[in-house]
Amino acid sequence: MSFYRPINPRAPFIWHGGDYNPEQWPPAVWDEDMRLMQQARFRVATVGVFSWVTLQPEEERYDFGWLDQVIEKLSAAGRWLCLATPTAAQPAWMSQRYPDVLRADEYGRRVHHGGRTNYCPNSPTYRHFAVQIATRLAQRYGQLPNLLIWHVSNEYATPCYCTTCAEKFRGWLRARYGSLEELNARWWTRFWSHTYTDWSQIEPPYANGERSIHGLTLDYRRFQSDSLLECFCLERDALRAITPDVPITTNLMGTYPHLNYRRWAREMDVVAWDCYPWPNADPADIAFSHDLNRGLRDGQPFLLMEQTPSTQNWQPVNALKRPGVLRLWSYLAVAHGADSVMYFQWRRSRGSCEKFHGAVVEHSGRSDTRVFREVSELGAELERLGDLTLGARTPARVAVLFDWENWWAIDAAVGPINPKEYVGFVRKHYRALWRQGVPIDIVFSDSELQRYAVVIAPMLYLLTPELAERLRHWVAEGGTLITTVFSGVVDPHDLVFAGGPPGPLREVLGLWVEETDALYPEQRNQIVWPDGRRYACGTLCDLVRLEGAEALATFGADFYAGRPALTRNPYGKGQAFYLATDAEARLLEEWYGALLAEHGIAPALRAPAGVEVVPRETGTRRLLFVLNHTAQPQTVPLPAEQSFHDHLAQRDVRERLDLAAYGVALLERSARA
Ligand code: GLA
Ligand code: ZN
Repeated sequence: MSFYRPINPRAPFIWHGGDYNPEQWPPAVWDEDMRLMQQARFRVATVGVFSWVTLQPEEERYDFGWLDQVIEKLSAAGRWLCLATPTAAQPAWMSQRYPDVLRADEYGRRVHHGGRTNYCPNSPTYRHFAVQIATRLAQRYGQLPNLLIWHVSNEYATPCYCTTCAEKFRGWLRARYGSLEELNARWWTRFWSHTYTDWSQIEPPYANGERSIHGLTLDYRRFQSDSLLECFCLERDALRAITPDVPITTNLMGTYPHLNYRRWAREMDVVAWDCYPWPNADPADIAFSHDLNRGLRDGQPFLLMEQTPSTQNWQPVNALKRPGVLRLWSYLAVAHGADSVMYFQWRRSRGSCEKFHGAVVEHSGRSDTRVFREVSELGAELERLGDLTLGARTPARVAVLFDWENWWAIDAAVGPINPKEYVGFVRKHYRALWRQGVPIDIVFSDSELQRYAVVIAPMLYLLTPELAERLRHWVAEGGTLITTVFSGVVDPHDLVFAGGPPGPLREVLGLWVEETDALYPEQRNQIVWPDGRRYACGTLCDLVRLEGAEALATFGADFYAGRPALTRNPYGKGQAFYLATDAEARLLEEWYGALLAEHGIAPALRAPAGVEVVPRETGTRRLLFVLNHTAQPQTVPLPAEQSFHDHLAQRDVRERLDLAAYGVALLERSARA
């Protein structure tokens, strides 16, 4: 399969390196950087991310001299290049001379120059300059033998509400709807006398303007995501024209709300993302984000482009990563599909708002520090692994469905409870599955489902008719579908399905929803099984009417006590479950455990709580990452009669695997016992 290829065949190993900002430092420091990079096995340097004004100090003047020197030094030191275009922060001269490059906030106010991602994605001026600098970089450096990948811009973000965007949005709508009548019908604008009688009346959903028309708010989010994506594509095409063989990416931000990364991933050669979990994060939540990124391109390995070697600075509490956690979380990424371990950043800046952000080289400038040592040891260990894990796939048979447009529509909805927590809800279901110790894929509304035995689609509020049809067909062919309260409510125009929820899933679920109750934060109902087991539930409770489905469990309290809380509908060769509420985690864990067992989906190894086992498979090898997420040593019993090789400890193990606190093993079953 084409996936079993390194991201760039020039460098068939796990990339170890990260952001390097030499322009913040005098040239005297650069030689020291090279020496230390070699020591740290920091093999891939991402340069140029925020170098725009240094490369182009004036509109008509370029200065590549310093970058030439830096690249020469990196090359002489045997480093590889992840070369960035600098377009995430435009120079002040550009904002000053061409104010149309500046974005406008939700009130339509042009912002002042400053910060980053501070440009209007639809500004022709911005686009012109961005493509120009990308082109110059490709012309100058595109033939370097150590160039591995293009890193376009940085963390695209922030919607714009300026007049340029407004005008372009109207054009986008004309193309989408054809006529104003069609738009008015789809947007349900007779409501509150909001019918548009001329295209020019349509404005972005300003914070002090039109936010009651949800077709509008949803379309504006689509439009802004697409507008920024166009910026990426313009630069990408300019680079590709000059260097057709160099892969191109940009760094994503996990569940960033404003960009539909599923659409973005299609345009990227490889997904890259920046992983900054809260220091006390549940490892399941970090795993979720990695799985999400792996899912963006249907299982293709991704790049871990940034993580901090020690501490973040922008979260409420920026605890240090404990000794061993950097290594643990790096392998967590690799276990879930990363083909790189990279950092932000190489050397900690002395000034500005990231001076307290961790780096490989701290303010002391020394290499005899804990962080430098951990990075170097990890670098050496990754180097020893060579290409062992590269391009490996995750053999998941269960999937959790996540969807940005669904999220946007849920966010916009007013009622039945405000606000709603879509991402948290999905994570809760994912976590319950993760605790079963089996690999999980994250899929999207347009993903291929054939390979899965079980698909969980929590709160699938916005449902495309195509997905509804594919789900129906997949269940009929034997799939097990689970969906929940607040699903099948609206179509892609944010219009409620005629007949109410679950819309086109009615037949496959064998039920319809009569009413939905909302519970106060502290309020609970119960889910009661016929054998007497009881679990708490809350947030939302659907009052369901069965049409073929059977009730597996019922609500325990209130006027709807005894009505179905969890249902099952056999459909064709498969079945569809409906969980009519937000259930406590314990129920999800027990229920999913039983369901997986029925499907014969079992963990590769039975590990104690807090130890995660993750398989990754190449064409020839079946690897098992074993990750101890606890601060205590742990022991994993190994199947008798079998011998394993631990590629990290470089030794064979039998019967039991002993892991240190935060320890990691990379096991492969030996050919002979
Ligand atoms: C992001 C950016 C980096 C840096 C880090 C800090 O990921 O891409 O430039 O600001 O955050 O955590
Ligand atoms: Zn704009």
